[in-house]
Amino acid sequence: MSELIIEGSRRLEGEIKLQGAKNSILPILASCIMCKGECIIHNCPNISDVDATIKILNHLGCKTNFENGTIIIDSSEVFKSTIPEFLMREMRSSIIFLGSLISTMGSAKLSLPGGCEIGPRPIDLHLDGLRQMGLTINESHGILKCTAKSKLRGCNISLSFPSVGATENLILAAVLAKGTTVITNAAKEPEIMDLINFLNKCGAKIKCFEGSTIIINGVSSLHSAEHTVMPDRIVAITYMSAAAVTAGSIILRNISEDIISSAVPIFEEAGCIIKFSNSDSLKIDCPSRPYFNRLIRTMPYPGFPTDAQPPVMAMTTIADGRSMFVENIFPNRYKHVGELLRLGADIKVEDKVAIVDGVKRLSGAKVKATDLRGAAALVVAGLAAEGITTITGLNYLDRGYEKIEENLISIGANVKRT
Ligand code: UD1
Repeated sequence: MSELIIEGSRRLEGEIKLQGAKNSILPILASCIMCKGECIIHNCPNISDVDATIKILNHLGCKTNFENGTIIIDSSEVFKSTIPEFLMREMRSSIIFLGSLISTMGSAKLSLPGGCEIGPRPIDLHLDGLRQMGLTINESHGILKCTAKSKLRGCNISLSFPSVGATENLILAAVLAKGTTVITNAAKEPEIMDLINFLNKCGAKIKCFEGSTIIINGVSSLHSAEHTVMPDRIVAITYMSAAAVTAGSIILRNISEDIISSAVPIFEEAGCIIKFSNSDSLKIDCPSRPYFNRLIRTMPYPGFPTDAQPPVMAMTTIADGRSMFVENIFPNRYKHVGELLRLGADIKVEDKVAIVDGVKRLSGAKVKATDLRGAAALVVAGLAAEGITTITGLNYLDRGYEKIEENLISIGANVKRT
């Protein structure tokens, strides 16, 4: 079992080129099976969730080539509509293949998806919407068998919660459906906009309206396209948190201001100075100790992202002040707290509320990651802690962070993987 060993308390200074967004590349790759010809996708992060998605694409009959951050997907010979359980279990977002398989093959057989243990992750909103479009779904023993007698038909779907995955699945199903689909209370995360931009390049007719309405006019086919994946805002926030706990000064390249606007005020209130320049880079200069005394509620976009809660919480553990977190998206998303306590943090959790009283210093210890962003929180805390922190459970970290130790070493951290 590999471990990340961090000798903390070192000031971080330097530049990092930000990777492409995990939550954008995964649905884009799944949508490629709907496009005739060769799609070329740039700025793809080399992370294990991308590997898992490529395995599914290959299993379905696509030819793929991943080199130097670019994935080429030729889906002219997609011939399977079944995804075996071992591939589905690798990640939650494998469910996104449901919409694209139905659109391409008219049927799909797959097991319920796996993913990080951050609470119950039902897919009822995905399935209800697809049923409204005419899909027949039989669910037994954890296997979904889905068939559409004829083309799916567009309809009005109102989501009771703006689920990211359900919105994406319904878009994928609606793009090649007959007629018009109107999704209200849709999720509007920037990664969904990136998927929509890609699909529109491929010939889809998708429009987003003020509020949370997405209208999709079905087309008869999609062609291939070339696309560059947007930068990863959660990875950006992770590195910003790392800078904040080390009195650091770092520059993030390949970023855009609009995608992290909900997080910038949090770092500014902590005393960090943030400057954007050349439209694609951000500099964050951090004080000797961050100051923090506020409430953070995780909310659907444009609210504060749930994925940023763990790394930002790690920052608040050593901040001067008391912070309160209310986790509204995944109520169980506090598994990192027990590990942060091992490092000397002062955190109390009751249901979806966590109260963090900042301590002057953390001290290194052995900790274990049990989900992706929880792993990121442990890295941030390890960088802050005095002495050696050893992190296991790196398979979670590797799901979403490309070359994390290389990047941290390049800005002055003492990190190694054994
Ligand atoms: C996506 C992101 C994940 C992020 C999350 C919330 C990807 C690959 N993953 O996950 O990083 O943390 O959005 O921003 O993009 N829900 C239901 N029924 C459903 C679907 C969801 O009750 O059918 C609930 C979930 O249990 C959860 C909430 O809705 O409590 C949000 O889930 P959702 O937005 O669907 O997240 P994911 O698409 O799984």
